Amino acid sequence: MVNQKTRSVLIVEDERIVAKDLQETLAGLGYDAFAIASSADEAILRASDRCPDVVLMDIRIKGKRDGIETAEVLKQRFGVPVVYLTAHADDATIERAKLSEPHGYLLKPVKSAELRSAIEVAIYRADMEKRLRERERWYATTLRSISDAVMLVDLAGNITFMNPVAESLIGVNAAEVRGRPARDVLRLRIDGSTPVPDHPLDRALRERRAVEVREATLERSREPPLIISDSAAPVIDDGELLGAVMVFRDVTAQRTLEKQLELHDRLTSLGTMAAGVAHEINNPLAMVVGNSDYLLEALGRLRAELVEQNSAATAKAIAVLDEALECERDVRSGGLRIARIVSDLRAFSRPPSDGGVETNVARAIEWAVRTTSNELRHRARMTVDAAPDLPEAKVDETRLGQVLVNLIVNAAQAIDPGHPAENEITVTARATGARTIAIEVRDTGCGMPPEVMARIFEPFFTTKKVGGGTGLGLSVCHGIVRSFGGNLQVESQVGKGTLFRLTVPVAPPRGSDGPAPSPVTRPFRGHRILVVDDEEAVLRVIRRALDDGELVCKARAIEAFELLQGGEIFDVILCDLMMPQMSGIDLYERLLAIRPEQAGRIIFMTGGALTDRAADFLRTVLNSHVDKPFQVSTLREAVQRLIKP
Ligand SMILES: Nc1ncnc2c1ncn2[C@@H]1O[C@H](COP(=O)(O)OP(=O)(O)OP(=O)(O)O)[C@@H](O)[C@H]1O
Ligand SMILES: [Mg+2]
Repeated sequence: MVNQKTRSVLIVEDERIVAKDLQETLAGLGYDAFAIASSADEAILRASDRCPDVVLMDIRIKGKRDGIETAEVLKQRFGVPVVYLTAHADDATIERAKLSEPHGYLLKPVKSAELRSAIEVAIYRADMEKRLRERERWYATTLRSISDAVMLVDLAGNITFMNPVAESLIGVNAAEVRGRPARDVLRLRIDGSTPVPDHPLDRALRERRAVEVREATLERSREPPLIISDSAAPVIDDGELLGAVMVFRDVTAQRTLEKQLELHDRLTSLGTMAAGVAHEINNPLAMVVGNSDYLLEALGRLRAELVEQNSAATAKAIAVLDEALECERDVRSGGLRIARIVSDLRAFSRPPSDGGVETNVARAIEWAVRTTSNELRHRARMTVDAAPDLPEAKVDETRLGQVLVNLIVNAAQAIDPGHPAENEITVTARATGARTIAIEVRDTGCGMPPEVMARIFEPFFTTKKVGGGTGLGLSVCHGIVRSFGGNLQVESQVGKGTLFRLTVPVAPPRGSDGPAPSPVTRPFRGHRILVVDDEEAVLRVIRRALDDGELVCKARAIEAFELLQGGEIFDVILCDLMMPQMSGIDLYERLLAIRPEQAGRIIFMTGGALTDRAADFLRTVLNSHVDKPFQVSTLREAVQRLIKP
């Protein structure tokens, strides 16, 4: 052979003369028949000294092991191809020889041309087999090493191979499930159907094309389900379908994050829209709430006077008044309810608060429990367990209280009334590490199925009957907790109960407690109050609310400015922030230049839809502000704080 290295041949033959003859023939053909062995042991010894390219093996040889057994040992140990060269062609021998998978079978006497072609074919085949084995090993190693999960099935859809990633994602052992139908092991739910009606692997086999599934739920027996993304493809070799392969990966964390972002985006845009609507609603609402407060008080006074007169004529008037008072109370509570919804919606668009406040979590819990005690009494026992040495949280106490009230009310509403001894709501708080505090609200109520749990943070999602809930509670809680830089998670089991866990950041240590707000009762007699608002009706509401003060009202900021420029002094300046022409900010800035002490007396009033400039301004300015619509008491408190700090 041209350009080919000399092939080495080991002859195993116990008849010396035949062996020598063969050796000569081989040499004549250009082979290096470097050794002759007459027994199995000798053959193994020779091969281990120098591994031949091919072995020519007689079947009947000396010793305990015959040529077939020897061939098996040589093949196994050295991977060398064996060609039998024998005088025996009986069926039994051929049958046995066949089982040892020889690379050739020649009958003596053999012609040199036959010998040569048999040797060449044997070496070529052995070489191909070796390469094939190497490639298989390479593929298997690759499949085992890649980070995606891989599963192979045969034509019937039964598992033939799984890599370690697939084993660990599914939670099974490859050896144990080999041969089982893939659809029983890789149990998928797509779009909520259980099990998936047409398994991707079955489809790939049937349709002979790749099938991609962007998102499926992988059910696992011992662990919670995972969200996977997968693709299945048929394995086709030279037009022949051999099976199918599926590659999949765990995308649970990625999808959870995507869903959170999606929800966050939706809440933010809803908040932006709500802020716009709020602007339009809050001024008229300020009239409704403020006038109701005034009317209730005025009608109350009138009623007291009539009661004092105590005549038949007044009795009739009192009855009419009582009805009017009831209507007015309904108007007021309706107005407050609208105000709460609008303010809840606005919470979504609020930027994360910069904290800056230190809140005693135990006190917020205590307040929330007290506030909800009516709701609870007939439903469950309440247990509070807040570690006494809890650090303060860097959150707004009122807003944290609002979250806790929402969670406790939800917990109470998940429990049917009537069996308070058998049900429990537990609120616990503990520090988790140095930076966060975890607060848990746990109930023994009805729990939630996964499809409800998946939607609870969506605004307006509620399972309560019409009029029972707006479905804003949890989305607001979610927004508030996120604005604290914390998070809100839920675990629930139908029939067992629900656990809401919120984490909030710990406040950095500080010096002393701030002053507690004092109750407001003092009248404003003798105090000068300037009110600036472009809405006449709002001015009227404020005039009534602060009627014990000395009020000057202006519908335009420029008029107020001129008054102040002229040297007038006010104890409090209530000023709308957003006004056409000169805004509250403009007034503040111009005052700062000429009457800084009066600029410091301003309380801003806001009705939502803040421009970026206004929002920034409110964040940085030291003056306080009240949101419209305000209750009379809130407005009076704010004024009181400025008059008597
Ligand atoms: N502790 C709980 N146990 C069982 N289901 C709950 C629990 N908390 C919330 N849910 C479910 O989540 C839904 C949404 O709650 P969310 O507080 O956002 O709105 P709501 O309570 O229905 O109405 P709203 O709070 O506005 O009065 C509820 O309707 C209820 O199905
Ligand atoms: Mg609720």
